[in-house]
Amino acid sequence: MLIALLPGDGIGPEVIAQARRVLDVVCGDRLSYEEAPVGGIAYKTESHPLPPATLDLARRADAILFGAVGDPDCDALERRLRPEQAILGLRAALELFANLRPAKLFSELADASALRPEVASAIDMVIVRELNGDVYFGEKGLRKTASGRREGYDVMSYDEDEVARIARVGFETARARAGGQGGKLCSVDKANVLETSQLWRDVVIELSADYPDVALSHMYVDNAAMQLVRDPGQFDVIVTGNLFGDILSDLASMCAGSIGMLPSASLDANQKGLYEPIHGSAPDIAGQGKANPLATILSAAMMLRYSLGMPGEADRIEAAVVEALAGGARSPDLGGSHTTAQMGDAVLAAL
Ligand code: NAD
Ligand code: IPM
Ligand code: MN
Repeated sequence: MLIALLPGDGIGPEVIAQARRVLDVVCGDRLSYEEAPVGGIAYKTESHPLPPATLDLARRADAILFGAVGDPDCDALERRLRPEQAILGLRAALELFANLRPAKLFSELADASALRPEVASAIDMVIVRELNGDVYFGEKGLRKTASGRREGYDVMSYDEDEVARIARVGFETARARAGGQGGKLCSVDKANVLETSQLWRDVVIELSADYPDVALSHMYVDNAAMQLVRDPGQFDVIVTGNLFGDILSDLASMCAGSIGMLPSASLDANQKGLYEPIHGSAPDIAGQGKANPLATILSAAMMLRYSLGMPGEADRIEAAVVEALAGGARSPDLGGSHTTAQMGDAVLAAL
């Protein structure tokens, strides 16, 4: 099976290198790899953040393992050439509409959470984030008001089919986590203010007739942010739109110890997927060996489970991560001094 390796910018190549070491040990030559540039590095070498050959590789591959994109040198470029367009372009072109962002606290990391250990230890949830719509992909631009002032705009919208397909993933995820029946789904929106959210809520309620066993609740996004810090253990599965899911998943990561711990899967309707840590290119620590590679290693495990039919191998990687943490492996974000490579060493040693 062919893996498209897209390391990207900043710490992207550093964390991907460790995930690759782990995959080599666990899967050997059952996987083959082709690497291609994305993001700022692709803009600098090929004049585009998502060169055609990279997109073609992503289409051909059985799965995509992605590092991160983002480069402060590129922040003044016109938007279509910025590094971030690479990941947005891949999500759109491959119709990767369902983004699963599991957040759980490894018990070994209770002291690393920004929350009190007894509050943090209860966190074990999945954020199901819609990834192809919302204000991210609406009409946007800069215009002049009648009085000649500059005005930026980004249109937020969801149609009912877009809501229904991600809501289904939410209900199914809740069911699967409950062992095939039951589970809890919290739909997060801003229906008290936004028409987009009112439609979202209406469609989720309509669909809930197909899932009578799943306990459905609704929460406004501002309250959800507060509740995630107050009592993250109350959540099982959250389903939400693109923008709210982006923000809430960074928030959930700190409840679970560090943004360097959270993996993600971005899936199309046929389980083809792109796998990436939820964090970015972290320019502040790039090139210093300080990045925590565990989110990327755990993303590789999700890839084996969801797209490549290798659940046993995924379990092995996840167990090795737990063992590495139990053995005291801690990068600086977790309060320790292990380098990126030493974190990889600790996982390899546990395998
Ligand atoms: P970021 O996630 O890159 O970094 C936020 C903070 O978390 C920084 O202090 C960073 O050092 C730390 N951090 C992130 N990952 C870490 C890891 N693995 N180990 C230890 N510490 C880690 O977010 P940002 O600073 O807001 O954005 C930087 C760039 O990354 C921007 O260009 C942004 O657009 C981009 N970005 C890309 C993606 C992606 O590729 N999917 C995701 C988020 C941000
Ligand atoms: C993420 C990132 C991206 C997003 C950016 C880089 C476009 O923050 O994957 O969480 O906003 O989706
Ligand atoms: Mn984000």
